[in-house]
Amino acid sequence: MTTEFIKSSANWKECPESTLPEYAFVGRSNVGKSSLINMLIQHKGLAKVSSTPGKTQLINHYRVREGAVEWFLVDLPGYGFARVGKDKQREFTELLNDYLLHRSSIVNLFLLIDSRHEPQSNDLSAIQSLGEAAIPFSIVFTKTDKLGTTRLRENIDRYKNDLNKTWENLPPVFLTSVERNDGRDEILNYIATCNAMYSRSTQPQK
Ligand code: GTP
Ligand code: MG
Repeated sequence: MTTEFIKSSANWKECPESTLPEYAFVGRSNVGKSSLINMLIQHKGLAKVSSTPGKTQLINHYRVREGAVEWFLVDLPGYGFARVGKDKQREFTELLNDYLLHRSSIVNLFLLIDSRHEPQSNDLSAIQSLGEAAIPFSIVFTKTDKLGTTRLRENIDRYKNDLNKTWENLPPVFLTSVERNDGRDEILNYIATCNAMYSRSTQPQK
């Protein structure tokens, strides 16, 4: 697998041409989006990580190539970080919404949720909006190394129960830890499956 940083964009209009299937990573600030991208591409430090929330402020495109298949991974600013101020928060939300609305090549969006916390209202409303906008997404529980197996299971079950109240079918769910390299194979396999479907759907019909 080879990876290349393509560019940082301040809005969807500046993003690279939509020539490849695209996988975006969204979630609250500090949930671990940039860390997860680095784990997937096995490149510590390519996506900038910080223990201070609000690190990623732009739309960052990375191109991944494996054999003849290429796709984009997209690192996005997080939501819900109060300390950046109301104006900046609004700016990030607008940036995210515009990107999601206009970027037609998004094949799947990975919504990251910190496995340590109880269901948070902004995460649940993000899930709701994605569903309503019919944007295909999966849920990734991050930082699983910070909890014991029982607590982890309890937290995830609680989330699933909450979602089951409004959703008939739950989206795919992944459990990840960048400390343990957990969830990497599962997410990459999922991307490979989506890529295969994408290439079939974009190939001219004979
Ligand atoms: P913003 O760019 O600010 O929105 O944050 P982000 O979602 O990109 O989070 P980032 O990847 O910068 O990680 C935030 C902090 O969480 C860093 O200190 C990471 O080292 C830590 N972190 C991320 N994933 C994991 C994980 O799986 N396990 C542990 N223990 N720490 C993690
Ligand atoms: Mg980040």
